[in-house]
Amino acid sequence: MKYGILGIGQAGLRHFNAFNNIKNVKLLGFTEFDLKKAKKFEKKFNVKHFKKLEGIISLKPDFIIIALPHSFRLEPIKLCCKNNINLLIEKPLVLNTRELKIINKYISKKNLIHSISFVHRYRKEVLNAKKIIDNKKIGKVKFISETMISQKNNHLPNWIDNKKISGGGVLLYNAIHSIDKICFIADSKIDNVFANKTNINENIDVEDVINISLKFKNGVFANLIATFLPYVTTPKWETKIFGSSGQVDINIRKGFELISNNKFKKFDYSNYYKKNGPNYSFNIQAKSYIKSIKTKKPPLVNLDDGINSVKIVDAIYESIRKNKIIKMKY
Ligand SMILES: NC(=O)c1ccc[n+]([C@@H]2O[C@H](COP(=O)([O-])OP(=O)(O)OC[C@H]3O[C@@H](n4cnc5c(N)ncnc54)[C@H](O)[C@@H]3O)[C@@H](O)[C@H]2O)c1
Repeated sequence: MKYGILGIGQAGLRHFNAFNNIKNVKLLGFTEFDLKKAKKFEKKFNVKHFKKLEGIISLKPDFIIIALPHSFRLEPIKLCCKNNINLLIEKPLVLNTRELKIINKYISKKNLIHSISFVHRYRKEVLNAKKIIDNKKIGKVKFISETMISQKNNHLPNWIDNKKISGGGVLLYNAIHSIDKICFIADSKIDNVFANKTNINENIDVEDVINISLKFKNGVFANLIATFLPYVTTPKWETKIFGSSGQVDINIRKGFELISNNKFKKFDYSNYYKKNGPNYSFNIQAKSYIKSIKTKKPPLVNLDDGINSVKIVDAIYESIRKNKIIKMKY
C-alpha cells in the first residue's frame, strides 16, 4: 500500500513513524512548506518532496495523511476526494460548520475510507476501559468528568496562537480529543452544551482555559475542564466515569482503575508505555486504518465522528459568545 503525507511537523512525523513500522506500506512522497525541514527528511528517509499535492496524486497513492495547520484543509480534502483517495485527517476535520458545508459534497462520496486522527481512542487504557464499561461492569453510565492540564511549551508550533490559522485555542488543539473520547464512552450524540472560557495568558487571541458541560441524548452528563498553561505545570489527563454501580478512572499513559463497593482492580500500563513510547497509539491507529482500507470496513473513528466534533466545537463557541445553553443541530 502506498501513501503520502501533507506536512511533516510534529503530527506528520508521528504518523510517518507509525506507518513506517507496517510491512508493505510505503511513503511515496510528502509536501512541506519549510524547505529546510523538507530537505532533511528527504535525505534521511529517501522520500521525494513535492511542491504540490498534485505531484503525489499523480503517483496514485491509496491514502493521504493531512497533518497541516488547521486552516489549510479545504483544498487538499477537495482535491483528494475528487481523485478518489482515502484520507486520514488530523483533528479537527475542518475549522467550523461553514467549512463543513464547503467540503460536504466531496467528503461524503461513497466507497472512500476517511478517518480523523482522534488517536487517543486507540490508547490501551481507553479501549480496555471502554470494553469494561460496555460489559456493564459499572452499571449504566451516568456522569463523566474529564480534566486535562497541559503546558504550552516551546516545542509547540507558533500558529496555534494565531486564531486565523488555528480557529481557536485549547479547545481545538487539545480538548477536542477529550470531547471525542467522552462521546465514544457515552456512546450517544450530544443534546446540548454550555461552556465558558478564560485566558491565563492574556497576550494571545485564543482561549487557554475552557470549562464545558455536555448533556447527551441518552441522559449521560459530562464535564470537561482543559487548560493550556504558559508556565511549567504538572500535566494531568484523567477521565472519571461514574456508573450506577461503580466507577472507572482512566489516567492517560498510566492505566485505569475499576472501583465499586466490592471491587478494586488496577490496570497498570506504565510498562507498556515504557516499552512502546508515549505515542504508541499512532501505531495502533495506523494498523487499524490500513486494515479498514484493506477490508473496506469503517474505521473505529469514522467521518461522522469528525463531522460531529466540528458541530460540537461550533456549539461550544456559540455558547461562550451568547452565554447560554446551545442545543445541538445534526
Ligand atoms: N493527534 C495528535 O495527537 C496531534 C498532535 C499534534 C498535532 N496534531 C494536529 O496535527 C496537525 C498539525 O499540527 P502540528 O503540531 O504537527 O503542527 P506543525 O506546525 O508541527 O506541523 C505542520 C507542518 O505543516 C507545514 N505546512 C504548513 N502549511 C503547509 C502547506 N500548505 N503545505 C505543506 N506543508 C505545510 C509546516 O511547515 C509544518 O512543518 C494539526 O491539525 C494539529 O491539531 C495532532
